[in-house]
Amino acid sequence: MGITAVDVVLPCAIAFVSWRASILLYAYRAYGPSDLYPAFIPLSLPGVTFGMGLIWTWNRRPDGYGNKECIRITPLLWGYSTLYVRSPEVLRQVAGGGSNKTWIKPDWANGSLLLYGQNLATENLEGWRRHRRIMQPSFSRSTYELVWRETTRIYHDMVKTEGWNTQSGSIVSIKAINQLTFKLGLYVIGSCGFGLPEKFTWADPPKGEKGQGNIQSNIASVEKSSLTIQFAPKWIWKLPSKRLRTMWEEYTSLTSFIHTEVAQRKAIIDEALANGGDDALDSVNQDVFSRLVLASQSDGKQALSDSELIGNTFVLLFAGHDTTSSTLAAAIALLAYHTDEQDKAHQEIVKVIEENPQFDFSLSSQLSYITSIFLEAVRLYPAGEVGIRECLEDTMLRIPPSDEKSPPVDVAMPKGSTVVVDFIAMQYHSRQFADPLAFRPSRWAEVGEDSATAFSTGPRACIGKKFAQTEATCFLTNLLRDWRIEPLLNPGETKEQWKTRVLGKVKIVLTLTIADVPVRLVRR
Ligand code: HEM
Repeated sequence: MGITAVDVVLPCAIAFVSWRASILLYAYRAYGPSDLYPAFIPLSLPGVTFGMGLIWTWNRRPDGYGNKECIRITPLLWGYSTLYVRSPEVLRQVAGGGSNKTWIKPDWANGSLLLYGQNLATENLEGWRRHRRIMQPSFSRSTYELVWRETTRIYHDMVKTEGWNTQSGSIVSIKAINQLTFKLGLYVIGSCGFGLPEKFTWADPPKGEKGQGNIQSNIASVEKSSLTIQFAPKWIWKLPSKRLRTMWEEYTSLTSFIHTEVAQRKAIIDEALANGGDDALDSVNQDVFSRLVLASQSDGKQALSDSELIGNTFVLLFAGHDTTSSTLAAAIALLAYHTDEQDKAHQEIVKVIEENPQFDFSLSSQLSYITSIFLEAVRLYPAGEVGIRECLEDTMLRIPPSDEKSPPVDVAMPKGSTVVVDFIAMQYHSRQFADPLAFRPSRWAEVGEDSATAFSTGPRACIGKKFAQTEATCFLTNLLRDWRIEPLLNPGETKEQWKTRVLGKVKIVLTLTIADVPVRLVRR
């Protein structure tokens, strides 16, 4: 008798159901009954973040928590049980990930940040401490002063090169302000993080040696295609597909840019060392890139391997521009819609500039409303939407109660458990922020900057927070001083329809970015 389909399908179905049941049972045994975390989601692709992306659209995600601080998701068909949290209290317990032994950033969660090698954002334990020791000193007051100066220079370069008419009342229509903020972000990190102001002029962006696109299109393309580049077999790049060929060329262009810059900076540092030893190094720029290159040439505790040097260069280019640029685009969109907030911001700028004619970094502490606009934009559109941690040993997590009357709950987390800190749900949580859906920059005067969890917290908090904040405050100040921002409406479209089209949409690839923001700038 031949084998029928039933003979094959039935055992497979039994094996599959048993496998999924064992995962559910394991989750039940390890973490206890599900009343604390009742969410069971039917389907998730391998890798929790992808599952989340498919299942919870970004702005509906906070609803998934009901009144709970965290939920456990055990997909019925694929993937393992994971704890999703929206409590700053839990963030504080796990965020140090990699600075201590309990919670680390697992490699599988770093995705394309590992494309060019280990780096500050992906390393753990001693490796992480070494990277942070090297980079931290470059994030100093003198860097922020430079960020302010360079952002202003690049703003003026942009207005001139884009040919904007600067007569009062002139109008500039921009289909996607994101394209400009992304260019700005890249140029500021290129100039201040890499010490390359002469390479980053608005009219002539740096090109990779292989000649495909420019550095900006290279990074954008690599961001989109990083998983293919990382995991696809080599032969696919030989297939006769224009799309694949462009993808590969953009990647190799970016690679050649990074390698060329590293080689040139190495040569400058070698020369300084040969000419006068350590003293001569003072003449070499102390930007973060030079510090990385220097560390790759030293022995002992500070040494960085070539692959770590390249990895950090990439992460700096990427994390240093994509996040800030997208937040700036969101801030501009929010201001275009909320004209009352824009007026308040403009009044602050006029007052501060009137009282302080010098336009430098010292103004930033007085422009608190402008900084609040940035903090509110990053709250509503957190570029880093999740933080993933895995525990290396059995441990406990203290979960705060969802109401004031109940006590906190201690939950056992067996070795190997995963926690996903959900920054979107955290920042839309009414326990943290009253009226969380509203754009209200003034709330930051009450809650204080420490509540800006979009940059994470503790020893592994974002190293570039002040860098981003300085750049954004400076750019918004320049822009709002000179221009009134309005929504650029489609024919027949109302402002409310524009709001739904623009403010309601994001893309989540490696980071969360707002959809294209069409605006009109009216010269004041
Ligand atoms: C709006 C702007 C930004 C946002 C929202 C943001 C968000 C974050 C978050 C949430 C983390 C922690 C991730 C985790 O631990 O899982 C982080 C880390 C990091 N950020 Fe940012 N970031 C921004 C700007 C920047 C800038 C401008 C730079 C560089 C100039 C930068 C470089 C880094 C690096 C290197 C890390 C890893 C730090 C470590 O692990 O020690 N970021 N960022």
